[in-house]
Amino acid sequence: MKAAIYTKYGPPSVVSVQDISKSVPKAAEVLIRIHASAVNSGDMRARSLDMPAGFGLIGRLAFGVCGPRKQVLGVELSGVIEAVGANVSRFKPGDAVFAATEGAMGGHAEFQTLRADKAIALLPKNCGFEQGAVISFGGITALQFLRDKGDIRCGDKVLINGASGTVGLASVQLAKHFGAHVTGVCSAGNAELVRSVGADVVIDYRQQEFPDSDNRYDLILDAAGTAPWARSKHTLTETGRLLLVNGSLGDMLRAPFVSRKNGKRLKAGVAIATASDIQILADLVAQGVFTPVIDRQFPLSEIVAAHAYVDTGRKKGSVAISIISER
Ligand SMILES: NC(=O)c1ccc[n+]([C@@H]2O[C@H](COP(=O)([O-])OP(=O)(O)OC[C@H]3O[C@@H](n4cnc5c(N)ncnc54)[C@H](OP(=O)(O)O)[C@@H]3O)[C@@H](O)[C@H]2O)c1
Repeated sequence: MKAAIYTKYGPPSVVSVQDISKSVPKAAEVLIRIHASAVNSGDMRARSLDMPAGFGLIGRLAFGVCGPRKQVLGVELSGVIEAVGANVSRFKPGDAVFAATEGAMGGHAEFQTLRADKAIALLPKNCGFEQGAVISFGGITALQFLRDKGDIRCGDKVLINGASGTVGLASVQLAKHFGAHVTGVCSAGNAELVRSVGADVVIDYRQQEFPDSDNRYDLILDAAGTAPWARSKHTLTETGRLLLVNGSLGDMLRAPFVSRKNGKRLKAGVAIATASDIQILADLVAQGVFTPVIDRQFPLSEIVAAHAYVDTGRKKGSVAISIISER
């Protein structure tokens, strides 16, 4: 089968499309014929080892000390179940699905095997394969940070910094779903996009000082890395929460101490896709509550260009990879 592989860490050019052998599903696994995937910030970090401060060694241990242990990137995908293992009853051949592959990665290929009890769900009927492929990365991160770390409540005043990226656009939509009043922070060129997915207020970070002294937020979700605790704490309400999606190792370690000393809380950590949260996202997409945004679409043969575009740090929503044309 065709797959985009990388054998050393580095710039987009370390990735190339090659023929590799297709895996056979084990008893608890499904084999998915992949129709679409995505290149996202997770792939960029695994490819380049450009990690948030303090995570350099942890990243190398996680992805491979001497070189990448998993040579096919792609942490999200959509496709059709091609075959199921002997113990699988949850899916059957022919089911259209989407999935977060987590540590298995492997979305940038024609086939991938995944554990059937992991983060896989039937593709919502109102969703094409490209859109299905980009549900999970932003969706799971937004859901788990807002709901679990942020304890978001109806009526909360929420600010999303980095509102035009994959995580940001998902966070704006899910925060609105939870009944929050949402302010999105992005550049002027993306203001209309952020407003169109539900933001009540949009701040252009080049024009307006953020965090501003006039407003107080119950929740600040920072997906851009420019709203650290020192800068954001004065803008939180007395019980406000700062969610650092790309926090440093230091942020993660001091978060419990900061939170203990304050009514205000600091939260950082990692989102991990589960079967139940993937199903929640499938339902929200089916209901039209969450619509993942695709900025650009590349065929697998142009995977290097897709990585280069993601590396600009300026994408709006997600970059999809088409492996088989749309259904
Ligand atoms: N903790 C976790 O489990 C987890 C999970 C997923 C992602 N992450 C991390 O979260 C971060 C965001 O991920 P992503 O996939 O959403 O990234 P992304 O899609 O690449 O974000 C791109 C967006 O960032 C915006 N941006 C750049 N500089 C900005 C600034 N100074 N202020 C506000 N917005 C700015 C850009 O908007 P403009 O062009 O409008 O400036 C662009 O639309 C990454 O660092 C990623 O590693 C962490």
